[in-house]
Amino acid sequence: MKILVLNGPNLNLLGVREPAHYGTQSLADIEKMLRAEAATLGVELDFAQSNEEGVLVTNIQQAMGVYDGIILNAAAYTHTSIAIRDAISAVKVPTVEVHLSNVHAREEFRHTSMIAGVCVGSICGFGADSYKLALHGLKAKLS
Ligand code: DQA
Repeated sequence: MKILVLNGPNLNLLGVREPAHYGTQSLADIEKMLRAEAATLGVELDFAQSNEEGVLVTNIQQAMGVYDGIILNAAAYTHTSIAIRDAISAVKVPTVEVHLSNVHAREEFRHTSMIAGVCVGSICGFGADSYKLALHGLKAKLS
């Protein structure tokens, strides 16, 4: 089983960016933790991050036929991007929406997700563990 972990804008700044919301772990720390978890599950992971919407759309398109699933933290594009929603819809690679923070407990504009309706599920509010929970959920769904 091969899963792509795709991260959107500003997540390259994890560790220094608003730690009260996003914790102190860097994206590299999260990658390390998730790779260790995936190894115990027999899942192969690839990681990608981009600050650009079009690059994320291309990453999702290129996942077709290569990955069994996607764990996606689209970051701020979650709340705005019909292009990312349409890409998930088009490729039909089962995708889990992930957020470190509980977006529903924050500003109102974060309560809307453009992508939730085309994802197999959504996890938010557990910090770095949101990715771990998504991995377990997606593995179970795909097995
Ligand atoms: C986020 C939540 C988004 O609202 C925000 O724009 C982010 C990170 C999270 O992981 O909590 O950049 O996706």
